[in-house]
Amino acid sequence: MQFHAEKNKLQLATLALTVVLLSACGKQEISLKGQEDTLAQRTVTSGQGVVGYPDDSPSVPDGKIAWEQMNCATCHADSGQGVPGKCSVDLASKEYARKQKPVDQFELISYGRPGVEHPKVSDKLSRRQAWNLVFYVRSLAEPPLTDEEWTAVDPVFGSNCAVCHGKRGVGDGPLSKNLEPQPANFRNFPRFYDRSDDVLWDHVAHGIKWEGMPDFLGKQDKAKNVKFDSDYIWKLVQYVRRFHESIVPTIAANPEKSENKPSTK
Ligand code: HEC
Ligand code: HEC
Repeated sequence: MQFHAEKNKLQLATLALTVVLLSACGKQEISLKGQEDTLAQRTVTSGQGVVGYPDDSPSVPDGKIAWEQMNCATCHADSGQGVPGKCSVDLASKEYARKQKPVDQFELISYGRPGVEHPKVSDKLSRRQAWNLVFYVRSLAEPPLTDEEWTAVDPVFGSNCAVCHGKRGVGDGPLSKNLEPQPANFRNFPRFYDRSDDVLWDHVAHGIKWEGMPDFLGKQDKAKNVKFDSDYIWKLVQYVRRFHESIVPTIAANPEKSENKPSTK
């Protein structure tokens, strides 16, 4: 971390110097140019790492295998809490994890991030494995619902959500035809990988105004004896996540399948 601080200082110093030099020229549009550069740089980085989505739900247990292969615990510790002196980010903290979007984690893990010293896995792991890794990292803070937990929530989803989102969560419930926008399809990877858990919680708790998604916080399902308090809304978020993440191991079962092998490029 010491090293990071030094580097940041250096970057700040360079930036300050640039600003001084630029303002010395007295050209107003220069500062605008500076903003463009930052944006251009960001596009270049994400362009180099165009986000490819997985063909199927990433597997948390497979992600654990990649985590071990890549020695992520050297800095993050097995628990994700971070090895003192190597990483101060606590991946196991719910508060931290709930703010993270899967797609941002994918980009950092695969391609790194400007200004952050981080190993990149894009030349060592297949795209699918990188996604597995993202969902393993997320599970360190918030383990996915087990099959039993999922089965307990499913009937509540059935009587409160499926009328719009459909029994299979793909947005094709009987009411969906009358709704614009359509109810979300929980299998829509680009949509849901661009959401933090906090945002999903907020949308289920408070609804999406004018868009047909009702608010559930504080309501009750008397027939199912369920109160939609904050904790239950978190359960619903985890339920929704199970449509685009998986707890089934595939690599362990199928180590020879090509997509499960490290990429050779
Ligand atoms: C050499 C030490 C090191 C190794 C090895 C390492 N990390 Fe990290 N990781 C860090 C540090 C330091 C940060 C904090 C970066 C920052 O300043 O934001 C971090 C941050 C992260 C973050 C959070 C980034 C964010 O802000 O969203 C994720 C996710 C992550 N690492 C995943 C991994 C995975 C997966 C692996 C294994 C492929 C791995 N890391 C290997 C040092 C390491
Ligand atoms: C009356 C129809 C209706 C019901 C009932 C309903 N939803 Fe929705 N839901 C929608 C619509 C429509 C959207 C899309 C809104 C949009 O795209 O802005 C949506 C969006 C969502 C999203 C995506 C939010 C995002 O950030 O993209 C989630 C998650 C969600 N609903 C979960 C639930 C859950 C869980 C329940 C039951 C507890 C539920 N919905 C019940 C209509 C409904």
